[in-house]
Amino acid sequence: MSSNTKGIILAGGAGTRLHPMTKIMSKQLLPIYDRPMIYYPLSNLINCGIKEILIITTPEDQNSFIKLIGNGEQFDVKVEYEIQDKPEGIAQALIIAEHWLEGKNSILILGDNLFFGKNLQEVVLKAIEDNKGATIFAYQVNDPERFGVINFIGDKVDSIVEKPIEPKSNWVATGMYIFNEEASDLTKKLKKSDRDEYEITELNNIYLQNDKLNAVLLDDSFYWLDTGTPDSLLEASNRIKNLKDSNIIEDGELIK
Ligand code: DAU
Repeated sequence: MSSNTKGIILAGGAGTRLHPMTKIMSKQLLPIYDRPMIYYPLSNLINCGIKEILIITTPEDQNSFIKLIGNGEQFDVKVEYEIQDKPEGIAQALIIAEHWLEGKNSILILGDNLFFGKNLQEVVLKAIEDNKGATIFAYQVNDPERFGVINFIGDKVDSIVEKPIEPKSNWVATGMYIFNEEASDLTKKLKKSDRDEYEITELNNIYLQNDKLNAVLLDDSFYWLDTGTPDSLLEASNRIKNLKDSNIIEDGELIK
């Protein structure tokens, strides 16, 4: 049940691909159409009934997030904050959050990942219920080499490979993950990768080796929008306006 699951939004990182926009401001605070970027993942968690949420930011940006979101009271949730001193990898969020998690399960979402879909909430809640260790949400893209790519044998996940030069499928792991209470301990065993990060892909591969990884495939009735580059940022704003104009996104789905 979602009451036993806490939400983590990782909203740190250097945002270098969006300089100069992100020189004085966190990427996840930039506007996407009519809301700050972080409102989208925050809405996802709130819509799933997650009541306790930790927002992890850089030291410089924490106050801006607090000014915007506060303690979450206005959204009927409890929001707390932690700092990631340096962007040492997505998996590090699980170490930073360890004490706050108090041994509970978590749903981790990247602060720059935007998910929409008519029955997204039901899909995520079912995934929380079915989770046997970790769960990834996969989506098909045209440029899989930019992401963690899922290799399948038949319909079973065989491995996840981070940014392969020659991707074996166009299904990629999106930036939303469910973890059981083992995640922080398992992350502590990870070594830094060649790009000097604790890789979320490596953590998920450990769960996979332990036969504890579920993959939920999000078909094209769902939307996963990327905001990593100036072009994709603009595209995301335009897509959201279109989805709202055509009532695929209803205003009430998003926090104000
Ligand atoms: O977006 C999904 C992809 O996210 C996955 O397919 C990949 O498997 C996963 O590794 C990750 O890809 P990138 O490594 O390219 O993500 P990026 O470095 O752009 O970071 C994603 C967000 O997380 C970004 O908003 C910054 C934040 N972040 C990232 C790192 C490494 C942090 O807050 N702290 C960090 O240490």
